[in-house]
Amino acid sequence: MPPGPIGLFDSGVGGLTVATEIRKAFPQQTVIYIADQFHVPYGGRPASEIKQFAGGISRFLANSGCEMIVMACNISSATALDEVRQEHPNLSIFGVVQPGARAAAADTRNNSIGVLATLGTTNTREYTRHISLANPDCQTTEVACPRFVPLVESGQTGTAGAVHAATEYLTPLAEQGCDTIILGCTHYPYLMPAIHTAARDLFSEMPRFIDPAKYLVHDLGLLVPSVNPQSPANRFYTTSDPVQFRLQAGVLEPSLEGDFSALTWNNGILEVGS
Ligand code: DGL
Repeated sequence: MPPGPIGLFDSGVGGLTVATEIRKAFPQQTVIYIADQFHVPYGGRPASEIKQFAGGISRFLANSGCEMIVMACNISSATALDEVRQEHPNLSIFGVVQPGARAAAADTRNNSIGVLATLGTTNTREYTRHISLANPDCQTTEVACPRFVPLVESGQTGTAGAVHAATEYLTPLAEQGCDTIILGCTHYPYLMPAIHTAARDLFSEMPRFIDPAKYLVHDLGLLVPSVNPQSPANRFYTTSDPVQFRLQAGVLEPSLEGDFSALTWNNGILEVGS
């Protein structure tokens, strides 16, 4: 049996950073990507809502033949991973928090780790928990960054406002002397120029920035076959406007190719079409 596609999802364009890492590591592997842009941003929403969204999207991906599902979205990984795994015991479900936390715990030299994430993720303290499991001597400082995701979704990553926001969010991490900082939201790699500009003024030595997606692919690699004789087109869905989503994806990740179309939420169930 040829393997099914890898399914992955996020609230919006951020998970395209994860899709790109997966396609780079496994070019033979087809992906199905879902951007829940109808509900973006997820960051300020209650955990109960995030669980509903993650559950509905994972059901759609499972029904689409995905045997591996990646919760590219950090807030979903932090709140809904266990429930979705229980619902689909025969599928391999991956989150991004654990690989990111493990990588940071292995990387730090002074045991002071920072996490930039959405409020929903920092509220769970899941990064702190997983970092402590990997290295109990680490001190973790988590900072919620509510202005970051809207900047990325609206294409304003290169603005003075982005540097201003980055300065505000990095300041407590500089005060703690963090030498390693986790980008705990998939949207944040697109803000790296602004984050670097801010960090140059705040840190005497540039901290190392960890993108969990780069470490997630190591975990996936244990299960992804190196050859896939069937390689249908990638599929990119949005719960908003697919024309707009294709344009955003084309700017952010021009190497990602595939079919773009719409999904609609209907009483918690995702259906094809707008
Ligand atoms: N990109 C998602 C994450 O990694 C959520 C961003 C949001 O919609 O607030 O957590």
